Amino acid sequence: MTTLAFNLNGKDTSLDVSPGDMLAHVLRDRLGLIGTKIGCGEGECGACTVLVDGKAVASCIYPALKARGRQVQTIEGLSHDAQLHAIQEAFVQKAAAQCGYCTPGMIMKSISLLAKNPAADETEIKHGLEGNLCRCTGYVKIVKAIQRAAEVMRRQLGR
Ligand code: FES
Repeated sequence: MTTLAFNLNGKDTSLDVSPGDMLAHVLRDRLGLIGTKIGCGEGECGACTVLVDGKAVASCIYPALKARGRQVQTIEGLSHDAQLHAIQEAFVQKAAAQCGYCTPGMIMKSISLLAKNPAADETEIKHGLEGNLCRCTGYVKIVKAIQRAAEVMRRQLGR
């Protein structure tokens, strides 16, 4: 076991992990953050997407010890004072979740996408979501929700 110290959703966090432990399992099984889903377990479906230093990673294949000293953000870290993040709000408004299994990963991927490109258009959003699979929605409502969130976030930033 080795100590992993990192910042998780704004809180300094420390626990002992094994070198083979993947971040998704540490988050879910050791820290109780089950919002991060595990789909394929091979880094191909995007359900396990979290942000590490603002970059979207597939946490099911991301060694937990690689997060040492870094900022990790999961879906649980998005809402503040019971206020949903603009992307979460937009997913609700546009009915972009059906079973919801892909939703946390879609939202975390969208955050990294809009941080890089706040004015992303439909094509850029679709391209940005490559690697995040949804079995239910056909993606139309997901893309509309992200477009809506992008508008709201640009307004919040005064752009
Ligand atoms: Fe069911 Fe996307 S809403 S997999």
